Amino acid sequence: SPLHDFLQGLPKCEHHAHLEGCLSPELFFQLAERNGVPLPDPEANPAYASVATLKERYKNFTSLDDFLVFFFQGMTVLQHEQDFTDLAWTYFQRAHRDGVHHAEVFFDPEVHRERGIPYETIVDGFSKGCRRAERELGLTTRLIMCFVRHLPVSSAEKVYDEFISARHFEAGVVHGLGCSSTEIGPPKDMYRELYAAAAERGIPLTAHVGEVGDPTYISAALELGVQRIDHGIRLVDDPELMRRVAREGILLTLCPLSNVLLRCVPSLEHVPVRRFLEAGVKFSINSDDPAYVGAYILDNYCAVQEAHRLSVAEWCVIAENSVRGSWIGDSRKAELL
Ligand code: HPA
Ligand code: ZN
Repeated sequence: SPLHDFLQGLPKCEHHAHLEGCLSPELFFQLAERNGVPLPDPEANPAYASVATLKERYKNFTSLDDFLVFFFQGMTVLQHEQDFTDLAWTYFQRAHRDGVHHAEVFFDPEVHRERGIPYETIVDGFSKGCRRAERELGLTTRLIMCFVRHLPVSSAEKVYDEFISARHFEAGVVHGLGCSSTEIGPPKDMYRELYAAAAERGIPLTAHVGEVGDPTYISAALELGVQRIDHGIRLVDDPELMRRVAREGILLTLCPLSNVLLRCVPSLEHVPVRRFLEAGVKFSINSDDPAYVGAYILDNYCAVQEAHRLSVAEWCVIAENSVRGSWIGDSRKAELL
């Protein structure tokens, strides 16, 4: 796009990338081999025949839940601390090339723990990748632990207790809590107690809502004390709630190409970027699961520009809101502004 160089050079903050969503089909097969992890039976699941067939399948997700099956299957090849470090480091290098100066990334400890990987292995592995990015790339990072709504609350409680016992928030190892996975079905307030306990400790909170769920999922998350909303595109269906989100300065972390690929919207034009700008709703633009979507953050910036033709001034508003909405101190914000 004509603004490609400008968008590349714009100092970006990423707030919505799942580290497990950075596992490419190539790395999936490599790690499966290296770790002796059995692949899904290609008879039953022909997508897993080769890198090429898996890549092709990733272009044809039919819904969020269809994607999640592949996303959780992908994770099974992550076994050792080094695997988690390698995955994070690979992402940060790419983000750095895309002009990202600060990255807040999600990870799903419950899912790894459920298949026998200790909490410490997961967090130590990912946080080593974060520290390397800070040291070698000058990229600041934040790890956000995501609860997954397809598992019972008791599973979330277990990782929360480990996180508290390890004092990982106080130590600046894990900086916030979120929740993700399937949206429609589980109770909207399933993390009420956990979010209340975390809020009491001053832990920043976010939630994946309004990706496929109606605005009542968004208001339920606000009621649980989130400062941020991941996706939240369905906010446009409730103008009153949209005014409240604008007034309270809640940041939406939009993932436009993910929304198209998972068929949450029919096309990029339906990601309500302009409606949010006009309503004064703050948002950042992010990649979500770049290795599954086949697009990283700069691809998302460029695709939004192609579809919505924003002005340089509008891009500056987006970039500035991304810095101000980051979970970093004022001195780092000042460096990024
Ligand atoms: N939505 C819900 N759960 C997820 C997503 C998402 O976009 N990516 C990874 N887990
Ligand atoms: Zn997400």
